[in-house]
Amino acid sequence: VVKLERRCWTEKEVRKTMQRRSPSSHKGMHGKGLVIGGSLDMTGAPVMTTKAVLRAGGGLTTLAIPDVIHPIVASQIVEAMFSPWETENGHFNGELGTDVSRFDAVAFGPGVGRESGGEKILSTLLDNAKVPLIVDADGLFYLTRLKERLKTRPYPTILTPHTGEFARLTGCSIEEIEKNRFQLSRKFALEYGVYLVLKGPFTIVTTPSGSQYVNTSGNAALAKGGSGDVLTGIILAFVMNHENLQEAISNAVYVHGKAADVLVNENHSMIDCIATDIIEGLPSVFRTLN
Ligand code: APR
Ligand code: MG
Repeated sequence: VVKLERRCWTEKEVRKTMQRRSPSSHKGMHGKGLVIGGSLDMTGAPVMTTKAVLRAGGGLTTLAIPDVIHPIVASQIVEAMFSPWETENGHFNGELGTDVSRFDAVAFGPGVGRESGGEKILSTLLDNAKVPLIVDADGLFYLTRLKERLKTRPYPTILTPHTGEFARLTGCSIEEIEKNRFQLSRKFALEYGVYLVLKGPFTIVTTPSGSQYVNTSGNAALAKGGSGDVLTGIILAFVMNHENLQEAISNAVYVHGKAADVLVNENHSMIDCIATDIIEGLPSVFRTLN
């Protein structure tokens, strides 16, 4: 019987494994990342994800959004590139508007909603994105119907469900998930061959081989709409900058929580701290980890 690892991921592990930037680095060394998200009624989610990628060290970042929201989204971020895709009823129509194989990692889901073409897009990504693929938010809604495809996907897939999204993915009740967070996330990661980030206080990162790492940072300031979208961006940036995916993902989860801890200890509180504050909290975390 193989004994699977299960342990805490603390500042000590983060310091040991965090990616460093070389003095001779150039933007191409830090990854070309693609965020795919947004819809007419959720324009903020992909903005937060993309700003988090930028703040977390992504080299070149492109945001694909439904073309109807391109102007409002582009007016909020100046450092990214944009890929406006065809729209139906304020959502993606299902056609990819760019060649995804030119990116080093792709994140799909923040703000996509549950209508029109999202499932078709995810289905195409599962085949065509020959790079690490992060699926979050309503991307996980579509994945429920496509999850068997994960078993044969030859590239890394990273899923970031909160408890409710994991309940939908597994068909278990929220109560069952709450009672068996470790067992059920390990079972799923092993069965489907994915990196599973089961979010909540003490987020658990499980590798496709079943090893588990429990995050030790974060607080209830994160219990706000948008903080998950920020985490997805940090994960995308770290995955592009680090060879070891478990370390990249666990470090991203740690840094996200640590930003909330620092903010609450400085000029914010758990009440007022909002998701965009978490992005702006990243600089002080990176400075102390360096
Ligand atoms: N302590 C520590 N961390 C927490 C806590 C807490 N009490 N509450 C939340 N977090 C962290 C989680 O670990 C995760 O990283 O905040 C993040 C929340 O992510 P999501 O649950 O994905 O939240 P988000 O997508 O931003 O917003 C909630 O999810 O169910 C949908 O439609 C719903 O719009 C809503 C959205
Ligand atoms: Mg979410």
